[in-house]
Amino acid sequence: KPAAPVTAKRSVAMKAVSKQDELKIQAAHKAVEYVQSDMVVGLGTGSTAAFAVERIGQLLKEGQLKNIIGVPTSIRTLEQAKALGIPLATLDEQPKLNVAIDGADEVDNNLDVVKGRGGALLREKMVELAADKFVCIVDDSKMVSGLGGSKLAMPVEIVQFCDKYTLKRIQSLPEVAGCEAKLRMDGDKPYVTDNSNYIVDLYFQEPIKDVHAASKAILDLVGVVDHGLFLNMVDVCIIAAPDGVKLME
Ligand code: 5RP
Repeated sequence: KPAAPVTAKRSVAMKAVSKQDELKIQAAHKAVEYVQSDMVVGLGTGSTAAFAVERIGQLLKEGQLKNIIGVPTSIRTLEQAKALGIPLATLDEQPKLNVAIDGADEVDNNLDVVKGRGGALLREKMVELAADKFVCIVDDSKMVSGLGGSKLAMPVEIVQFCDKYTLKRIQSLPEVAGCEAKLRMDGDKPYVTDNSNYIVDLYFQEPIKDVHAASKAILDLVGVVDHGLFLNMVDVCIIAAPDGVKLME
């Protein structure tokens, strides 16, 4: 008997679920159709990915999936997956993944995406690059005509050492000209990632002109660990909208 879908009303979280969460659930459940027994699966981070992790846990519990190994992209996801009884491994133990499922902050028509507003960009990029298939799951509010266009943050993970210096160097790169760079805060202290680094959030007035040039220029700066531009990485994007779920490949 097929597993009953986790609907808004029956979400494990058992909280009132918004219309947007209902879309996230639809995208997440569609993505979990890519997961089969005996697979090693990258488990993303964020509110949309959490619904996919929840679904995998449910299917394992009901015996409809067997022998799954999850590779979490953050401590948050590790804790969620552990609580759901999903067997876990690291990339050291499982360097080759069959599929990874994760959300995104912005998606353009080339399926280039911005990730990392949840702060997990480095582990997400490492895990998703190791997967044969990266399935990105979003509701339609994440679609943009150009990355940076949502006017929300594009994160850059940097080492803590001389963070102000690195922030200024990022902001003065011609490839991101006009952006405003802010150190991400957690109350009155800098936000610290799972890798003990800081995050500089870049805010753009206009979409980034050349995302590949920006990606390279930012990464070339010593002191930068990685950034939230995930270019040429997504194999399938599942977009849930009020009029249905669409796939882009
Ligand atoms: C975390 C991420 C998330 O996938 C991204 O922020 C989307 O999150 P949400 O599904 O909550 O909107 O990159 O680092």
